[in-house]
Amino acid sequence: MPPGTAHAAGGEVRRVGIVGGGQLGRMLTLAAHPLGLAVTVLDPDPGCPAAQVGATQIVGRLDDPAALAALSAATDVVTWEIEHIDADALVALEAGGVLVRPSPSMLAAVQDKFAQKQLLAGAGIAVAATVAFPPLGASAAPDRAAFLVSLVGRLGDPVVVKARRGGFDGRGNHVLSGGDPDALGALTATLGDDWSALYAEASVPFVAEVAVIVARDAAGATVAYPTLRTVQEGGICHTVSVPAGLDPAIDAEAQDLGRRTVALLDGPGVFAVEMFVTPDAVVVNEIAPRVHNSGHLTIEAAATSQFEQHVRAVAGLPLGPTTLRTPAAVMVNVLGRREGPAPSEGLGAALALPDTHVHLYGKTSYPQRKIGHVTALGADAAEVAARALAAREALRT
Ligand SMILES: Nc1ncnc2c1ncn2[C@@H]1O[C@H](COP(=O)(O)OP(=O)(O)O)[C@@H](O)[C@H]1O
Ligand SMILES: [Mg+2]
Repeated sequence: MPPGTAHAAGGEVRRVGIVGGGQLGRMLTLAAHPLGLAVTVLDPDPGCPAAQVGATQIVGRLDDPAALAALSAATDVVTWEIEHIDADALVALEAGGVLVRPSPSMLAAVQDKFAQKQLLAGAGIAVAATVAFPPLGASAAPDRAAFLVSLVGRLGDPVVVKARRGGFDGRGNHVLSGGDPDALGALTATLGDDWSALYAEASVPFVAEVAVIVARDAAGATVAYPTLRTVQEGGICHTVSVPAGLDPAIDAEAQDLGRRTVALLDGPGVFAVEMFVTPDAVVVNEIAPRVHNSGHLTIEAAATSQFEQHVRAVAGLPLGPTTLRTPAAVMVNVLGRREGPAPSEGLGAALALPDTHVHLYGKTSYPQRKIGHVTALGADAAEVAARALAAREALRT
């Protein structure tokens, strides 16, 4: 069989199965359909964002073995849009002959952020210093308080405590300040008291955050997108811009780190590598083994979007070029302001802006929920950023 073609069931991939049908599944569906590929998603919410744009939906929990079996029976390849899923169930499907892409055992290896950091550090990739939490009994409050004090001594002040699994949009993180007299109470209030689920890392004094998105085809060849500058507020991605505006040597280092990181991860697909740029180094923050918020602007700004790229990769098709079609692009997330259906007013005002592209995900709104995004393209980075923000303000009425 020639490299680049699908193999497991021996046949061509015509039907793509996705675990999760949220906005990423929706944008994957919108990329797959023009290629003539059918999409089925597994999602617990009837009428999930992907189903709204024509994906067939299996309604079920993401970790329900029967639902996963139904998804694989209905499709030629299974992939995912979210990493917080039952990787072992996907490993079992693969062992049973289902084509799962990228590698489910790779997913199992990186789902735990602490294990992920150790994998990266072991490969010589710069990451923040980490400390595992000791498994203390529930009665050991003084020991716990003393351990937190010791953390500040070992890692510096403040320390970032993270949930090993399941975090997103900053929700699994807690900044621990050595000066807080009730550090233990504050930590327990945000991340709970199961210390086997936590670890700590040094706070990185970054001057910028960037992401490098890398795609790999079924034959192992990779392409990388230009480095993306990201701005997180309260742990949530707010703005992504390209070009990243980095010193060329720093940019080259970020690209190199992105490629070296993804070389550690098996299987065809799209991967994002989040990084911190400090005054003297580039440090990997985390891996997303999937399409990523930082890559949404590739829909309009790049020759091939990250979503089409992922579909191509998992379907055994050749990758497309990652070159930019525009001198500058800025994406801003549209975050919910209040509970209820997403507001529809403001769309006309946003669309009146030139070369400004609105994506609404068909999700109900609640404060700080990602309900859409806007990408603006143009020649001048500052003007493009202002236009993207103006469109978002119009939409968030
Ligand atoms: N060690 C750290 N030092 C400084 N800032 C951090 C650190 N870890 C996380 N952050 C900040 O919090 C954001 C979210 O953290 P991250 O670990 O990427 O969690 P999530 O899985 O929610 O994206 C990061 O983009 C960064 O802005
Ligand atoms: Mg992150």
